[in-house]
Amino acid sequence: MGEFDGIQEREEGKKKMPLGMTVLFMGLIIFGLAYMYLFMPQTTGWTQAGRYEAKIKAREAEVAGRTRPDAHPETEHEQMQAAEKGKEIYLAECAVCHGNALEGGIGPSLRGPKFKHGPTVEDHVRVITKGTEEGMPGFEQLGAAKIRSVASYIHTSHQH
Ligand code: HEC
Repeated sequence: MGEFDGIQEREEGKKKMPLGMTVLFMGLIIFGLAYMYLFMPQTTGWTQAGRYEAKIKAREAEVAGRTRPDAHPETEHEQMQAAEKGKEIYLAECAVCHGNALEGGIGPSLRGPKFKHGPTVEDHVRVITKGTEEGMPGFEQLGAAKIRSVASYIHTSHQH
C-alpha cells in the first residue's frame, strides 16, 4: 500500500494492466492493422474494382491466346471452321496430287485410316510444312495458319 495526501493506492494495481485489458488492447491493434492492410485503398491500393479488373484482364488474355491464328483449334466448332478454310487451300494446292476428294493420285490417299507419317493433326502439319523425301513437297511458304487449316481439313475427313 502506498499513501499520498491521505489517499491509499494498491501497489500491484499500479504496475500491471489487468490481463483482460492487455488482450483486448493488443487484439484491437492487430485487428486495426489487418483491416488497414486488407480494406483501405488509400494506404494499400487494394480495391474491389481493382480486383475485378485484374480478373477481367486475365480472362481476356486467355481468350486472346485462344484466337491466335496459328494456335491449335480447340473446340470442334473452331476445328470445323479451320477445316472449311483448309478445303479451299487443299483444292488449290494439293488436289493435283492427292485428288479432289482426298482419294489419291500421284500422292497417296489422305482419307486414312492408315497414314505412313502419322494420323494426328500435328503429324500432318509436320509433313505438309517440311515435305518428305519421297515426293511430298514442303509448303512452309503457306505459313503456319494455312498449313494448320489444311491439316484440320484432312484430319476431319479421316475415315475411321
Ligand atoms: C507434287 C505432288 C504433291 C503435292 C502438290 C502435294 N503432295 Fe502431299 N504427298 C505427295 C506424295 C508423293 C506423298 C507421299 C510421300 C511419302 O510417302 O513420303 C505425299 C504425302 C502427304 C502426306 C502424308 C500422308 C501419310 O500417309 O502420312 C500428307 C498429310 C500430305 N501429303 C498432304 C498434302 C497437302 C496438305 C498438300 C497441299 C498443301 C500436299 N500434300 C501437296 C505428293 C504431293
